[in-house]
Amino acid sequence: MQRVVLVGFMCAGKSAVGALLARALGWQAVDLDARVEAAAGMPVREIFAAHGEAEFRRLEREATAEVAGRAAVVVSTGGGWAADERNWARLGPGSFCVWLRISAEEAVRRAAGTPGQRPLLAGPEPLARARELLARREPLYARAHARVEAAAGPAEEVAEVVERLVRARLAPAGR
Ligand code: S3P
Repeated sequence: MQRVVLVGFMCAGKSAVGALLARALGWQAVDLDARVEAAAGMPVREIFAAHGEAEFRRLEREATAEVAGRAAVVVSTGGGWAADERNWARLGPGSFCVWLRISAEEAVRRAAGTPGQRPLLAGPEPLARARELLARREPLYARAHARVEAAAGPAEEVAEVVERLVRARLAPAGR
């Protein structure tokens, strides 16, 4: 295994868990949304507003292509990353994918703490929208090798659970 890829719905803590996990492993943390923002020179919500979702997805694929073959990295994806087959196809061998699972209710509760950050939940009925998106995406997140409950505890605890999974796979066979 050369890299960990965290997938899952909005507000599952992919960025926070990715940063903690990378630090624990001594690997580099790569946040795809942050890379897209740096490439575009504006926050995600402005990319959506000014250029549309399709342009955001194009930048997301580009950012994926840049990091998908790197070693010793923990890649935190955005919630829609898993919905594009081209992103999965880009991942190099040795990618260990972990789904940080969260309910639509918890995602919307968390998103309310950072209003305006998530354009896809910005409409009048965020919970209905989140349920609909999550229902469509869960089968895609389920392609990950492992699933961890993201809301079971704080990011530190979730990162520890993922770290244990990673270390078990890094350990030489038979030990
Ligand atoms: C998106 C999730 C966001 C961000 C963009 C689109 C999605 O990332 O990539 O707003 O389609 O679910 P987070 O999962 O970090 O919120």
